[in-house]
Amino acid sequence: MRILVTGGAGFIGSHLIDRLLSAGNEVICLDNFFTGHKRNVLQWLDHPYFELIRHDVTEPIRLEVDQIYHLACPASPVHYQYNPVKTIKTNVMGTLNMLGLAKRVKARFLLASTSEVYGDPEVHPQREDYWGNVNPIGIRSCYDEGKRVAETLTFDYHRQNNVDVRVARIFNTYGPRMQENDGRVVSNFVVQALQNLPLTIYGDGSQTRSFCYVSDLVDGLMRLMNGQHTGPVNLGNPDEYTILELAEAIQNMVNPGAPIQLNPLPEDDPRRRKPDITRAQTWLGWQPTVPLQEGLRQTLEDFRSRIGIHAESEVQVPVAITGEHH
Ligand SMILES: NC(=O)c1ccc[n+]([C@@H]2O[C@H](COP(=O)([O-])OP(=O)(O)OC[C@H]3O[C@@H](n4cnc5c(N)ncnc54)[C@H](O)[C@@H]3O)[C@@H](O)[C@H]2O)c1
Repeated sequence: MRILVTGGAGFIGSHLIDRLLSAGNEVICLDNFFTGHKRNVLQWLDHPYFELIRHDVTEPIRLEVDQIYHLACPASPVHYQYNPVKTIKTNVMGTLNMLGLAKRVKARFLLASTSEVYGDPEVHPQREDYWGNVNPIGIRSCYDEGKRVAETLTFDYHRQNNVDVRVARIFNTYGPRMQENDGRVVSNFVVQALQNLPLTIYGDGSQTRSFCYVSDLVDGLMRLMNGQHTGPVNLGNPDEYTILELAEAIQNMVNPGAPIQLNPLPEDDPRRRKPDITRAQTWLGWQPTVPLQEGLRQTLEDFRSRIGIHAESEVQVPVAITGEHH
């Protein structure tokens, strides 16, 4: 098959491309390199079945493909809040353009949506039939509401134009190739631990999160794309850890002596976020398999080599972490 991956030079997209090419598919990667990087797909640049196109999805493009994985969109708060208008344009116009392409060439289309569509949820764990509790005018809205509109567009193209669609609601994912400066809790702790800095927790660390390793997530995306169900389907790891437990796990693996520092909690920090994955289990036969310890080990190895390479230019640790949601 010829498969288009938008946002393919990013964290999740590049792992997806590894899997798709290893399985013998032809892959076209579209990316504007806002948060993605060529080094994430470097190993494929000379591969005859791989094509890399620098392109912004807010502009239309004509291509012949069988499937479209639409991942293009900055995913961490520091990046999607950098230019909120651009973020919403990417979600709305980018998704429109890719759905238009899917319609024209009769390709199957998968939207990478997010658990953020549930906002600050009033029900736990979150099931796909929960409509969410989202602030339409807050600083996260460009992303949450952007993805909600993207879901709406996807279902409207399905109902109105018979486009074959899939919607995945992705929860916190981590692993190699996450950006060091994305302000998310896993990358922050890992960078801090590797640099012998105190691990900073916002609040008392009792808030819980769940973390899905990237290979599990990619497996879920491919099962959804190639299965019979439209969705939406939650893809995430339902194991809950407190932020303090996560900090201690990383601390023990890297630098058991590293201090943990508690800072004030940012305003809109949800207490809990945890997927109900019954749908993914029954529809796709999917559930995460990589334990946190193992995923963290792989992530640490990758960050260690990257931070080693860039040692002279010092990796920047963001000043405030508000990105624990992803
Ligand atoms: N990582 C997570 O925990 C998580 C959770 C929920 C949803 N998601 C979704 O999964 C997708 C991938 O996330 P990720 O973590 O790999 O993020 P990422 O920032 O690493 O990847 C996004 C990619 O999209 C590209 N991009 C952004 N705007 C673009 C545009 N206008 N045109 C073309 N390319 C553009 C970026 O350069 C980057 O390569 C996103 O849609 C995100 O919303 C991720």
